[in-house]
Amino acid sequence: MPAEIGQLLVTRRFGDEENKQITSYEAKGGYKIARKAMLMPASDIVDQIKASNLRGRGGAGFPTGLKWSFVPKDATDVHLVVNCDESEPGTCKDRELVYWDPHLLIEGMIIAAHTLGAVHNYIYIRGEMMREYAVLVKAVEEAYARGYLGDRIMGTGKQACHITVHRGAGAYICGEETALLNSMEGLRGQPRLKPPFPAIKGLFGKPTVVNNVETLMNIPFIVDQGGQWFADLGVGRSGGTRTVCVSGHVEKPGIYELPMTITFRELIEDVCGGMWKGKKFKGLIPGGTSMPPLVDSELDVPVEFDALMTDERIKPVEVTEGVPFDMGGGRQLRTMAGSGGIVVFDEDTDVVALCSRIMSFYHHESCGQCTPCREGTGWMDKICKRIAAGKGKEGDVELLGKIANGIAGNTICALGEAAAWPMMGFMTKFRAEFEAKCIIKKGAAA
Ligand SMILES: Cc1cc2nc3c(=O)[nH]c(=O)nc-3n(C[C@H](O)[C@H](O)[C@H](O)COP(=O)(O)O)c2cc1C
Ligand code: SF4
Repeated sequence: MPAEIGQLLVTRRFGDEENKQITSYEAKGGYKIARKAMLMPASDIVDQIKASNLRGRGGAGFPTGLKWSFVPKDATDVHLVVNCDESEPGTCKDRELVYWDPHLLIEGMIIAAHTLGAVHNYIYIRGEMMREYAVLVKAVEEAYARGYLGDRIMGTGKQACHITVHRGAGAYICGEETALLNSMEGLRGQPRLKPPFPAIKGLFGKPTVVNNVETLMNIPFIVDQGGQWFADLGVGRSGGTRTVCVSGHVEKPGIYELPMTITFRELIEDVCGGMWKGKKFKGLIPGGTSMPPLVDSELDVPVEFDALMTDERIKPVEVTEGVPFDMGGGRQLRTMAGSGGIVVFDEDTDVVALCSRIMSFYHHESCGQCTPCREGTGWMDKICKRIAAGKGKEGDVELLGKIANGIAGNTICALGEAAAWPMMGFMTKFRAEFEAKCIIKKGAAA
C-alpha cells in the first residue's frame, strides 16, 4: 500500500523531547530490530535493502542496497561513514532528524555496520551544528553504556561496533563524499578523482560506505517490516517516504515526511497552506539550489526521484534556445529530487537576483581544483551580478549558457553541475527576465 499523508517513519518522533534518552527510545521498542539483525546473515539484509528500493537521500538517489553490494565480500577494515554535513542551501532535514531521533540513526548504523562487516564507524557532522552534535555525542555514550556499541555488542560475544562523531569545519564541499573522507583524514577537504570509488578505496584507503543520515534511519524499518513492505510504501523504483524541507513564500514552511506520490501542487496547497499573503506562485527549487527550478505548468509531477528526471510534463533544460541540454547518453536534463530542500518563490521575486545569489554561493564554495569549476563559477557569478544590477550586455545570456555547458561533465566532482544546472534551468525558464536586464549593446562600455 502506498504511504498516506501522515504515515511517518523517520520523523515520527519529532517533538518528543524524551525520545532522545535511550530509556525512552528502548521503551518504544528501540534497538530490538538491531538485535534481530545481528542474527541475520549479511546477504539476507542486503537482499532486503535491495528489494526495498531505498534510494540515497543525500542528493543523487543512488540505490542503497546496490551501493552496499559494491564492498568486496572478503574486505577487511570496512568503514561506514554517515554524511551529516548538510550544507546544500534550502536543506535542513538531517539536523532535525539527528536532533529528534539520534538513537534511530545509531540503530540504523549498527545494522549497516553488521551487514558491511564494519567495526570503526563515523558520523561526520557539520561544525556549526553544535546543538545536534551534543545530542549525538550523548546518544552515542548512552549506546556504549548499554552495550549496543563496543567490542562485543548485544551479547553476541564477537561482534564489535564503534562510532566516533567527527565535526567538520563547515564547508559545503566537505559534503561531497570523497572531500568528506579527505577532511576526516586531516587533509584539505577536496574531492578525490574517481575511480577508485570509496567502496573499494575510501577512508584511510579502506573500503568505505558513505550514506546520508535519512538513508540510514530508514534501515531499521526495512529490517523490521521487510523490503517489499518498504517498496510498496513508495512508487516505481523509489521506496518508502520522502522527507522534504519547504522554505520560502508559503504559509506553512517546515519539514514534512510525505508519500512519494504527492505532487508539488498538492504539497504547496494541501500541506503548506498555499502561497503566503495570497500571492501568486512563480517558481520553486525542487531539491536544493543545485537543481533546475520548476514553474507552474510543471507542478503536477510527484516529488518522487524518477518523475523529476523523466516526466514529460517538465520541460527539458535548454543550453541555448531550443537546444535541450544533453546529460550524456542522449538524456535531457529536466530536474532532480536532490537533497529535498524545496524553496518556493512568489510573483514578486526577482529571479535574476535569486539566481545571482545562488551563483555567488557556488563560486564561494568551489574548492578550486579544476579549472572549469574554479573559473566558470566565478565567471557566472560576475555576469549574473551585472545582469541583476541591470547592466547586462547583449549576448550575456548566451555566454552564461556556454559557460554552464562548459562546466557540466568536465569536473572532478558534481559541484560543477550543482552550479551549471540551476544556471541553465533559471535561464531556460525565466529567459525573458534575464534578457530584459541585458540592455547594454555589444561593444558599448558597461
Ligand atoms: C558538492 C556536494 C555536496 C554534497 N553534500 C552532501 C551533504 O551535505 N549530505 C549528504 O548526505 N550528501 C551530500 N552530497 C552527496 C554525497 O557525495 C554522497 O553521494 C551521499 O552522502 C551518499 O549518501 P546516500 O547514498 O545515502 O545519499 C554532496 C555531493 C556534492 C557533489
Ligand atoms: S568541481 Fe569544483 S568543487 Fe569539485 S573538485 Fe572541481 S573545483 Fe573542486
